[in-house]
Amino acid sequence: MSVLYKSDIARGRIWARIFAEEAPDIEFRVWPETGDLAAVEYLIAWQPPPGLLAALPNLKVLFSSGAGVDQLDLSTVQPSVPVVRMVEPGIVNGMLEYVTLSVLALHRNLIDYIRAQAAGAWQPVDVAPASARSVGVMGLGVLGQAVLERLGTFGYSLCGWNRSPKDIPGVTCYAGAQTLERFLGRCDILVCLLPLTAATHGILDRRLFSALPRGASLINVGRGGHLDQRALLEALDSGHLCAAILDVCEPEPLPQSHPFWSHPRILLTPHIASMTQPETAALILLENIRRHRRGEPLRHVIDRGKGY
Ligand code: GLV
Repeated sequence: MSVLYKSDIARGRIWARIFAEEAPDIEFRVWPETGDLAAVEYLIAWQPPPGLLAALPNLKVLFSSGAGVDQLDLSTVQPSVPVVRMVEPGIVNGMLEYVTLSVLALHRNLIDYIRAQAAGAWQPVDVAPASARSVGVMGLGVLGQAVLERLGTFGYSLCGWNRSPKDIPGVTCYAGAQTLERFLGRCDILVCLLPLTAATHGILDRRLFSALPRGASLINVGRGGHLDQRALLEALDSGHLCAAILDVCEPEPLPQSHPFWSHPRILLTPHIASMTQPETAALILLENIRRHRRGEPLRHVIDRGKGY
């Protein structure tokens, strides 16, 4: 039996070291050194190369090496092979840091000060207390809940929106499409942490922006595919939205001529909000493999119907 890893090679070496230390009984292979393909029962991958899945006759589980699974072509994965998304403390911590940084940056007008400094202008901007600002998170999974809990420590008024109902202490939770407008009407700062699926593609569109209060801001840490770029530019240029912090875009990287690069109200980062940390992820994944081998249910298996 072997585990095959096909993702970033430098990180793969760390995974291999941890498996060697913690699970010497398991053969851990880093692509392209696959060994006997018939021995591969577990595959960890961001995007398996074309033909790889069909060449693994004994594959039992496909683990995404990241939090998302939208990069996988699920139609190439045998229906009998469960697909597991990455839920591990390193990703959660990275996302907590990035969203906290972004909410505070927007609340404390950092984008104004970046521009003011470039212009050599000493220009204070009024700031409301955190308790007078509302932050709304779309997508109340592990990451969304952790982010809300952390933001609560600053005193923001918190709300969340999710496909299915959730109950989170200190957070006004909305569920389903029919509640989206009510939720948006409360968000001074909107954070998109949704999975990218057919149902959420392009969800950050003109209608959604118009339902936000005038002067609201956007943080997108979901996927570039969530955002209607033209609608964002219109909302910013009309002054309806105040600013946007985007860690993801479509395509990545954006072409040099793209208007987001130079937009004065957009802060772009190159998809670095949060990344799987091999040191923590390898142990979580190993525990999931052990569970599977004991015949226990795997954790964090996706629902292929829902796409996450
Ligand atoms: C990063 O975007 C991930 O899905 O882990």
